[in-house]
Amino acid sequence: MFKLASSLRSHEAVQRLTAITSTKPSVSFVAIGVTAWFIMLQLWPCQMRGQHGTTPHIKHIVMGRCYSYMTLVNPSLSYDCEEIWRRFEEAVVHPATCNVSVQDYHPMFDLMPQIWPCNKFLFWSKTRSLMHSYAAVLQHFWTLEDTLPGYMFNDLVWCGLDKESGNDGFDHSSCPEWSACKNHPVYSLWRKASQNFAEMACGNITVLLNGSVVNAFNRKSMFGSVELDSLSPKRVDHVNIKVVTNLEGPYIESCNKGSIANLIQILQFRGFRWTCTDTDQTLMSLQCIQHPKCSSTQTCANSLTSN
Ligand SMILES: *[C@@H]1O[C@H](CO)[C@@H](O)[C@H](O)[C@H]1NC(C)=O
Ligand SMILES: *[C@@H]1O[C@H](CO)[C@@H](O)[C@H](O)[C@H]1NC(C)=O
Ligand SMILES: *[C@@H]1O[C@H](CO)[C@@H](O)[C@H](O)[C@H]1NC(C)=O
Repeated sequence: MFKLASSLRSHEAVQRLTAITSTKPSVSFVAIGVTAWFIMLQLWPCQMRGQHGTTPHIKHIVMGRCYSYMTLVNPSLSYDCEEIWRRFEEAVVHPATCNVSVQDYHPMFDLMPQIWPCNKFLFWSKTRSLMHSYAAVLQHFWTLEDTLPGYMFNDLVWCGLDKESGNDGFDHSSCPEWSACKNHPVYSLWRKASQNFAEMACGNITVLLNGSVVNAFNRKSMFGSVELDSLSPKRVDHVNIKVVTNLEGPYIESCNKGSIANLIQILQFRGFRWTCTDTDQTLMSLQCIQHPKCSSTQTCANSLTSN
């Protein structure tokens, strides 16, 4: 069953580190959003419109995914999909386009309670495509996209419109860039979803970071700004950090080089136990399999023979 979810996810996958100008929305879309937000805020007034409006057929997509989630992905759970949609509409349609706060989504999230077994939580930053294959191979992992809200809203865009104009309340011609305002409707939803996900996390958790970028751990990413602060040292036994670089490099950060040290410092300060590895064999093998061209490299030779 979770195989199905994973394959759906990989179709919907977009790179976490899309360019700022990218119009493809996703969980990650929001994560970089925060990064550039401070710069963009001065440049782009809230009225500034992005290119794409609300995803066409959003109601059918969201409701369809909701039914699909509780019927096929997680049949043990039951949700009121109609009411979830109604509360979503209520949050998004009434206020000004760029003024949907995290609180506005609370009534909707109240209808989506979910509890997961411990030791399965997988967090990631700038490793989206590797994370998808990792989670697909080691099937016991859970990511934000496996939660009901993550599953329902993955890759969608939405923003409200004045009811006056007599349509369904969504702006189908254009929505503001995610960076255009603080209370962006898409950003606020992901913020709440990420916060809930991290608050639930328990047992050992895994964090997958990208050692081929500067600031693998970024305080302004969704992981660094929302999820990390929402983790509880009382619920979480170990934070197991895995730093992965591209096979062909660059090799910029590792457990004791660069921003990862800041993450470890924060974890220690807050009383978490942690481990960190930058030579995870499974992750290396996965990369080797996916990039046959590089498989002849020494890294791959080592990782495949030692498995
Ligand atoms: C944003 O919404 C809040 C209440 O949801 C309201 O108090 C505030 O005036 C709104 N701000 C703008 C700029 O519309
Ligand atoms: C690290 O980030 C770069 C730049 O976005 C990306 O191309 C690469 O696939 C990422 N590497 C891993 C291992 O996720
Ligand atoms: C949790 O992580 C620690 C450190 O990596 C490890 O020693 C322990 O066996 C793990 N426990 C579980 C239940 O996976």
